[in-house]
Order: sequence, then C-alpha cells, then structure tokens
Amino acid sequence: MEKCLLLGNGGREAVIAENIAKTYSLYSVLPYENPSIVEYVKKSNGKYIVGSPFDKELVKKFIEEEKIEVCVISSDNLLQDGLIDLAKSLGLKTFGPTSIAAKLEWSKTYALDIVQKLAPEMVIKNFEISTEAELEKAMENYPDENFVVKPEGLTGGKGVKVGGEHFSSKEEGFAYAKECLNASGKVIVQDKVKGSEFTVMVLTDGKNVVPLPITFDYPYRYEEDKGPGTGGMGCMSFSNGLLPFLEQKDVDECVNLIQKTINYVNKDSLEFTGVLYGGFFKTEEGIKFIEFNARFGDPEAMNVLNALETPWNEVMENIFNQTLSTENCKFKKTNTFLVYIVSKEYAVKKNNEPVIFKLNKKQIENKGVKIYFANAKEIGENEYTSVSNSRLFALEKTGDNLEELKKEVYKVIDEEVDKVLDYRKDIGEIYEH
Ligand code: GLY
Repeated sequence: MEKCLLLGNGGREAVIAENIAKTYSLYSVLPYENPSIVEYVKKSNGKYIVGSPFDKELVKKFIEEEKIEVCVISSDNLLQDGLIDLAKSLGLKTFGPTSIAAKLEWSKTYALDIVQKLAPEMVIKNFEISTEAELEKAMENYPDENFVVKPEGLTGGKGVKVGGEHFSSKEEGFAYAKECLNASGKVIVQDKVKGSEFTVMVLTDGKNVVPLPITFDYPYRYEEDKGPGTGGMGCMSFSNGLLPFLEQKDVDECVNLIQKTINYVNKDSLEFTGVLYGGFFKTEEGIKFIEFNARFGDPEAMNVLNALETPWNEVMENIFNQTLSTENCKFKKTNTFLVYIVSKEYAVKKNNEPVIFKLNKKQIENKGVKIYFANAKEIGENEYTSVSNSRLFALEKTGDNLEELKKEVYKVIDEEVDKVLDYRKDIGEIYEH
C-alpha cells in the first residue's frame, strides 16, 4: 500500500483520513491526538507523530524517514504556508494547491479581480480599499449600515461582517473596516445583497473538474442565523445534488466560473489541484460570487465524502494522471445531514478554559450515526477535552430521507451529547438573507 501523508486536524481532515485509510497507509503530523485521525492511522497500519504540521523541517524529516509517497492537504493556513510546495519539492504526488495558487483563498482582492475579469456579471459592487482616504470615500456610498466588510486574508470563516447582522450602525461598520485595513493593509467593502447562500465545490486535477453535491452550510452561531460568524455549525446535501432553491443551470454557471478560474491560475504551470470551493448567493439579479476557498469546506467535506461512491485512491490516481471525469469519480444519490457540536462559548468569548466532556463514541456509532472529531482529544475512558475554542466534533448521517436523518441525528444528540456542550437546533431549515 502506498503511504499517504495528511496534514491538518479538523473534522474535515477526520473524514479525509477515513477515506485515505481505506486504500493507503495513513501518515500524519498532528498538533494533538485527534481521536478520529489516530484511529484511521492505526487501522491502516500507518504512523503519526505529535508536532506542528507547520514545522517544515519536522515534516520533511518525517516524509524522508518514512518514505512517504503521497500528500493531501485541505487546510487554508497550511496551504498558504506552502506545505504542498514542500511535498512537491520532495517528489511526492500531491492533492492541494501550492501557496501561490491558494492565493485564491488567502487574498480576497486577488480572487475578486479574477472573477471581475472572467464573469463580471457575478461580482457584487465593491470597493477594494488600501488607504483610509479610500475607505472614507467608499463610505460616502452608504447612507446607513447596509454594507458588508470583508478582511483581505484568512479568518477561519469568522471575518466577514454584515451590516444589520454583525454591526448595527454605519460608524460601527466603518470602525471594523478600519481595523481590518490597519491589520493587513487592505479591506473590501461591498454592497449587501439579498438572497440564499450556497456552496459549489469541485474536485480538480488542474485541468478537469468534477462538481461535488451542492451543500448548504450554517455559518452563524445561533438558531435562525443569529449571532457571530463561525466555521459552520452544520451542513446538509440532497440526493439530487442540488438545493431546493437551485436549478441545474445555476450550478452550471458557478462550475463554469470555477473551471475558468482554474484554467486562469494554471495557465503557466500546474499550481492548483485538489478542491476549489466557491461561495455564491442566488439573488433576484442572478448568481453572485462571494468567495473562493482553495480546499474542502469544513463541515462540507464530511457531507460530500460520505456521498462519494468511487474509492479515494481511484480519485487520487485520476487527479495525479489528469484523467479526472464524472465517469471515474461518482457520487451516490443520497442525502447527508450533519450537526457540529461546540462549547457554549464557541465564537462568542475569547480565552476560555478547556471544556471537559463525556462521550460514548461506540454507543453513538451503534445508533447508526458517524462521529468525526475536530478540536478535541481523549483524556480518559469516554472522556474528552477541547484543545482550543473551536468546533469539537461532528455527528453525521447519510440516507434516503432527509427528515428522518434529521430526527435520528437530533435524537442521538439528545441522548448522547453532554449537556455542557452546545449546538444549533435548526440544522435542516433553509434561510435567506
Ligand atoms: N464551512 C465554510 C468553510 O469551510 O470555509
């Protein structure tokens, strides 16, 4: 079996690990022992070390000593930091963009400029700002708080602030835009649009793209999409691969933009492979572009990879050989439903203490629900602790009837999830903004 290195340690990586471990020996460099990733490393007779995946010397030594042949990365900061570049330089076959190609995610202005060239009709009116004078001028376009502020760099899904939702006056929005400008030298201010948000992800070998089932994410912390932005509190996908408010032609328009973007980024050399994620809004004025991510979404990866029919090694081989197609990369016609479990303070308070919680993994699995650990580690029998104030674990179920899936996952949450923890109780509803 080939040896495959996976870097990254969230719920997204837990499901990638599950897929890799079916057909490769899984290797990893983990900052803490993510119980899911550790389980899949052991099942596949692989190996992990505890250390920083950002430590290039450590990763290089591990790759060389263990003679690792393949590398998969789908985490924004690791991609920006050039860990795929490192793996390529050591001769590994890689899944994930180089740092320069991941700029589609780590520079919001770079992404907007490309979409402006390729599909100007999809761009929401915006101001790319790099001085305080430009910010003041842009503000003249807005009589009140009805605008959106987008930081330039990576923010783990928590940086975009929407007027009326995250700030309640023009002054507050201006102050946040100024803070972003001071932090990175750039900020985007854009019109607020009304519509339904959705995600289109594709797998790509750098030339061909295969669209994944469309997912509906819950980026806000509380029910009815209230509260601060988060990395995503839940996610679902439908058996027809669409969402109730989307038609195939809407998706085709997004995939067309994604395909053109990959061609544009790869025009000189093959820099982008893996997953390109597009965030979009369906509005009365048509489909509008929000952002690109250079990786699988988290939690979206747990939904789409549970619908993947083709073994992961075949997908990878077709990516390495640039032969990826909808014929050799197939998805089941199934629904997927997922709820992320978090601490009560997640996304609302900083510098909080670790949360210790009880969890009987076997019992959850025996009830037919999958569990993927994220920012948690085991500290005793059926006892875990958070390792940061990020999402802790996700519960996922795949099947024919979405209403049933929802009932079953929430029943398991009710019976099995420690009351010290929190989650959104309305995953499954469709919201418009
Ligand atoms: N769920 C949104 C993201 O992964 O960025």
